[in-house]
Amino acid sequence: MEKIAYGMIGGGPGAFIGDVHRKAIRIDGLAQLKAGCFSRDAAKSKAFGAELGVAEDRLYTDYQQMAKAEAKRSDGIKFAVCVTPNASHYEICKAFLSEGIHVVCDKPLTWTIEQSQELADICKKKGLLFAVTYTYTGYPAVKQMRKMVKDGMLGNIRFVNAEYPQDWLANPVDEHSSIAPWRMDPKVSGISNCLGDIGSHIENMVATVTGLKIKRVCARLDSLVEGRTLDDNASVMVEYEGGAKGLYWSSQIAFGYDNALRIRVFGEKGGLEWAQEDPDHFYFTPKDSPKQKWSRGRDQFAPEAQQYSRVPSGHPEGLFEAFANIYKPFVLALAKQMKGEKLSASDLDFPSVEMGLEGVIFINKCVQSSKSGSVWVNV
Ligand SMILES: NC(=O)c1ccc[n+]([C@@H]2O[C@H](COP(=O)([O-])OP(=O)(O)OC[C@H]3O[C@@H](n4cnc5c(N)ncnc54)[C@H](O)[C@@H]3O)[C@@H](O)[C@H]2O)c1
Repeated sequence: MEKIAYGMIGGGPGAFIGDVHRKAIRIDGLAQLKAGCFSRDAAKSKAFGAELGVAEDRLYTDYQQMAKAEAKRSDGIKFAVCVTPNASHYEICKAFLSEGIHVVCDKPLTWTIEQSQELADICKKKGLLFAVTYTYTGYPAVKQMRKMVKDGMLGNIRFVNAEYPQDWLANPVDEHSSIAPWRMDPKVSGISNCLGDIGSHIENMVATVTGLKIKRVCARLDSLVEGRTLDDNASVMVEYEGGAKGLYWSSQIAFGYDNALRIRVFGEKGGLEWAQEDPDHFYFTPKDSPKQKWSRGRDQFAPEAQQYSRVPSGHPEGLFEAFANIYKPFVLALAKQMKGEKLSASDLDFPSVEMGLEGVIFINKCVQSSKSGSVWVNV
């Protein structure tokens, strides 16, 4: 298959996640970086793009110019990757979708529900593909747990407990900090810091594994480090359609924790448990039986999960592979669509724009609940 051309907005020198995206895309070699606007500083963007091997005439000073110019080229990019801070996701995604260019965007998708809805509507109207990089759902173990829930191995879900503690904001940080200070700035981050940044991963992980739809939330967002306007700790009670209940905790002040996303799902016939820091394994406890440890790369994994396993069991896979497992189905689906073939549900095995929208609804409803004194709010 000929490599599909893509462009990137954001991910400039020193940026965190853009570099991870580029490396993850290279794992399967299905797409190639051909254009970019890597920073708002034109000189920085050009110098950095040249280092990445992007041709000079395809290094742009702003994303609008990039969207228009690339749409006009016969060899123009087929998809754009948006890895800028949250405030600009909506405008950037809209600029590329409006030119008929497919999009991959990092989470949280946008600030407002209306903005995400608009992006979803444009995709539907124009038949464009859109992936939101909820990274952790790319792991084969997560896909296997999703299959087990779908196959009824847990029966009806009764309760979900999920948490994402970190400690990187446990101390005050200022604008000179090496930690991107924009996350605590409402003008860039949006209405939430901690819940928007990592609580959104919890929401999407639970939705992916269980298929449960949230009916209402009751949330408390705390700013526990003095002087902060946005939250650094969030507790959320959840009720799902069908009656199951959930409890989510995300925190950036939890000393001793790095990226400790963990999910536990309890059904009538058994329970599941998975932790992001040991992504190749999960635990399944069937009713009245001892706990089983399942391992990526072994026979028990179903083909739809195992196909994303790249090396034999016992050779750890991680963040780059999880990202690659979002890009692989996205680029293959795009290639199929470009050939005029119809896409099936299994082709679309990546987090969709609708999932991005659900994430933004979750954040907005939790903030509304918290501001109203932690009352239940319908979703
Ligand atoms: N999926 C994940 O696990 C994950 C992890 C980290 C960050 N993220 C998300 O990725 C996004 C970026 O986060 P980050 O940590 O890489 O931020 P960062 O501050 O490290 O990098 C942002 C980059 O975007 C550039 N930029 C900003 N505005 C721009 C514009 N208008 N045009 C071109 N470039 C522009 C900056 O110069 C910088 O290079 C955020 O939305 C964040 O929530 C997701």
